[in-house]
Amino acid sequence: MYGMPMTIFLFVCLFVTGVSCNSVGDKIYVDFKDNIPCVRLLNATHQIGCQSSLSGDVGVLHLLESEENLDWVLSSGPDPPYMVMLESTLFTRSVMMKLKSSSNRVAGVVVVAPNTNPSAGFSPHASCPNENSEKYSPSLAHCNATVWNPLGNNLSYEEFDFPIFSLKDDNDTQAMRQCYMDHNRPVNGSKPRYPLCAMQLFSHMSAVTDTATCMRRNSIAMSLNPEFVCDPLGDVNIWALSKPLNVTEKGHKPGESVIIAAARLDSRSFFFDIAPGAESTASGLVTLLAVAHALRNATQEAQLNTTIMYTFFHGETFDYIGSSRMVFDMERNQSIIDLDNVHSVLEVGQVGLHGDTKLWLHSDPVSRRNSSIDEEVVKLIKNLNSSAKSLNFSVEEPGSSQALPPSSFQRFLRARPIPGVVIENHQSTFTNRYYQSMYDNSDYLNVSYPPGLTPEEQLDFVTDAAKSLAKVATLVARALFVQAGGNGTRFNIEADELLVSRLLYSFLVMPNNSWFQITKSFISINAYFSNTTTNFYIGVNQQMSEPTILVQFMLANLTGSVVNTTQENCNNQKENEDDKETKHLYYYVWAQGAAPPNGTEREGFCVRSTCRTTKAVSPAFELEEYTSSNYSTWTESRWKSIKGRIFLVASHDLEMLTLGVGVGVLLTSLLLTFFISSKADILFNSGREPTNATY
Ligand SMILES: *[C@@H]1O[C@H](CO)[C@@H](O)[C@H](O)[C@H]1NC(C)=O
Ligand SMILES: *[C@@H]1O[C@H](CO)[C@@H](O)[C@H](O)[C@H]1NC(C)=O
Ligand SMILES: *[C@@H]1O[C@H](CO)[C@@H](O)[C@H](O)[C@H]1NC(C)=O
Ligand SMILES: *[C@@H]1O[C@H](CO)[C@@H](O)[C@H](O)[C@H]1NC(C)=O
Ligand SMILES: *[C@@H]1O[C@H](CO)[C@@H](O)[C@H](O)[C@H]1NC(C)=O
Ligand SMILES: *[C@@H]1O[C@H](CO)[C@@H](O)[C@H](O)[C@H]1NC(C)=O
Ligand SMILES: *[C@@H]1O[C@H](CO)[C@@H](O)[C@H](O)[C@H]1NC(C)=O
Ligand SMILES: *[C@@H]1O[C@H](CO)[C@@H](O)[C@H](O)[C@H]1NC(C)=O
Ligand SMILES: *[C@@H]1O[C@H](CO)[C@@H](O)[C@H](O)[C@H]1NC(C)=O
Ligand SMILES: *[C@@H]1O[C@H](CO)[C@@H](O)[C@H](O)[C@H]1NC(C)=O
Ligand SMILES: *[C@@H]1O[C@H](CO)[C@@H](O)[C@H](O)[C@H]1NC(C)=O
Ligand SMILES: *[C@@H]1O[C@H](CO)[C@@H](O)[C@H](O)[C@H]1NC(C)=O
Repeated sequence: MYGMPMTIFLFVCLFVTGVSCNSVGDKIYVDFKDNIPCVRLLNATHQIGCQSSLSGDVGVLHLLESEENLDWVLSSGPDPPYMVMLESTLFTRSVMMKLKSSSNRVAGVVVVAPNTNPSAGFSPHASCPNENSEKYSPSLAHCNATVWNPLGNNLSYEEFDFPIFSLKDDNDTQAMRQCYMDHNRPVNGSKPRYPLCAMQLFSHMSAVTDTATCMRRNSIAMSLNPEFVCDPLGDVNIWALSKPLNVTEKGHKPGESVIIAAARLDSRSFFFDIAPGAESTASGLVTLLAVAHALRNATQEAQLNTTIMYTFFHGETFDYIGSSRMVFDMERNQSIIDLDNVHSVLEVGQVGLHGDTKLWLHSDPVSRRNSSIDEEVVKLIKNLNSSAKSLNFSVEEPGSSQALPPSSFQRFLRARPIPGVVIENHQSTFTNRYYQSMYDNSDYLNVSYPPGLTPEEQLDFVTDAAKSLAKVATLVARALFVQAGGNGTRFNIEADELLVSRLLYSFLVMPNNSWFQITKSFISINAYFSNTTTNFYIGVNQQMSEPTILVQFMLANLTGSVVNTTQENCNNQKENEDDKETKHLYYYVWAQGAAPPNGTEREGFCVRSTCRTTKAVSPAFELEEYTSSNYSTWTESRWKSIKGRIFLVASHDLEMLTLGVGVGVLLTSLLLTFFISSKADILFNSGREPTNATY
């Protein structure tokens, strides 16, 4: 372990000199710019994802032109191992599994991302998402009644022992194609001659086997040196209340009744940092933000006796990390309310309408066998129905034999029967053709603009997609208001179309815009907004992800109000010098304000809201039950470097070189390990790794 930096150094020397002696004069050496790897994740029993060897994997570039062409890679080609370059149409389960099964001839894969979505649909996710987290009887469990994601080919859950990268279709990939055409392409079946074009990918992963193993290695690492190998997936749940409750008092709140209005905050795809989740995540999230905004005035004026808790759950993709944590906290009296306070759940799922005007209200057939639960569910559905009528929408229930689709509500039901409804755009199987893939993007949700608009004009342009989501938000807001005991005719509750459009633009097209900049808080002024679609992958526990920061600011700003106080007071959670009480009820954030057009200083302001964050880390890590089957156990491996490059190699020496270096590295590390462990007492005076440590 300690020998690694040294061996890498040796390797690089050998490698660089080796290649430069053998390379031809016009050698090209292209480092990829925008490469996105597939990384390793681990759960209680498996490791999934991809990795290279420590020193990077090298192979002869092969551009796969069709599936028949695969033979060259799998058997007939004379120069294995190959680095296979795939056009996205060939990134299918069948091709990938063939490559996986002959991994001795495959050094790695790069997939060229297309500029338009595949019309046939594509989902690398499981066909039965989160199936292990559901506690149904056999007739409903494991998608027995309905396979939710029929296009799901499960590639995201496979393990590959070679690196897989995604590349943008740009000049780099063009150079690779050219390099292949010029040097590697077999002409009339004859063997291509050296020099050949080769590629090297680095994505070595530190963690192996499963979560229990890597957590054990982490704890050993902690006592010796700070080299962690994996981290639990985690972030925060974000919520706000329609009426302030004392957050310092945890546990049961006598007399309080709370409706949980939920949406999910995360998504994923096969590759590490592309998870646009336009329909799977953003449609519900943006709708719920608009609902919270639309209800701000009405809920404050009407003084409802039921509180609405707008909740955004994180990590739901990975066996419901966020919702399971909230339920766990409620059960342990570590939350501001407990499960007895929960009146009902209304969840907004995938609600992209694609021009349609029909929504489906899903409920849980098992808990509805209890008549009092059923009664409440019927009431809820009635509210949604009457609010839909006034908007020319139609809402319907699917058949009663169908299970509840994957949703955060599942985790509440697992604790106890609670009335609730999940709003979706599908009757049975998902209509989303790109579930948890990189194609679930703004194009798919029809967030499109007339040509020629500047970014500022796009921000203020109300798209059709926004109009339709705003209607959904109005529907949900009105129904929620009645559900919370409000008088449905007293207020004209209406979601703001411009707000929805700006939110969609900000999450799916360009987070780095003048409007989002207003809410940027002083505390995290260094938080950066990206220039492309938001990545909704949850990531690891240490830092808040971009969508988390954005949703938190937006929710605070949309539900809260501006108070006249100094930045210092604001950051110290008080309204004036003597204020000691309001921090129990409100949370204050300082926003930097809009940039005045004439270039003078921004004028900041303090937003007071009930918006808070609570941990969204699986209870399995709290309980240190790394083999739990009740809670999510997903961790993400650490890595040192992710990079890739292509170059020319002059001869067969490539293979010899790789072999030679491999043997060299092995011998060196053996020697170093031997040396270090024999001299460990001298080298490390603090503690010592037990010699029989097995990991
Ligand atoms: C699926 O449900 C049917 C009854 O609806 C049951 O007979 C069958 O065993 C179930 N399948 C599995 C795999 O549990
Ligand atoms: C871990 O993930 C694998 C791959 O998806 C899955 O087959 C397995 O059931 C999961 N293990 C647990 C305990 O959920
Ligand atoms: C997906 O792949 C994993 C790993 O091979 C496997 O354990 C799991 O059962 C698969 N799930 C489905 C639905 O095929
Ligand atoms: C790509 O290549 C074209 C033509 O060679 C060139 O005009 C363009 O600037 C290049 N783009 C980038 C991003 O390098
Ligand atoms: C909130 O609860 C804390 C702890 O019980 C108490 O000290 C505080 O006075 C309460 N504040 C309000 C506004 O109820
Ligand atoms: C809420 O009330 C304020 C004034 O109290 C008004 O300016 C604002 O437009 C109202 N918002 C909505 C969404 O009705
Ligand atoms: C809220 O008020 C309504 C009527 O005003 C009443 O029927 C309901 O029981 C009340 N709920 C709670 C939790 O007090
Ligand atoms: C609801 O509000 C309308 C309009 O303000 C009023 O006419 C009606 O009496 C109210 N209904 C109830 C039950 O308070
Ligand atoms: C986004 O683009 C702007 C303008 O082109 C640039 O200044 C900024 O650094 C970019 N931000 C990021 C995170 O790439
Ligand atoms: C935040 O709130 C302020 C004041 O209410 C408003 O001027 C601003 O436009 C809001 N910003 C966003 C991004 O909603
Ligand atoms: C804000 O507070 C300051 C100092 O207390 C006062 O001078 C100012 O007029 C207030 N501004 C508003 C808009 O109330
Ligand atoms: C710049 O804008 C600010 C706020 O809009 C205004 O108060 C100030 O007078 C402007 N200054 C100039 C030089 O125009």
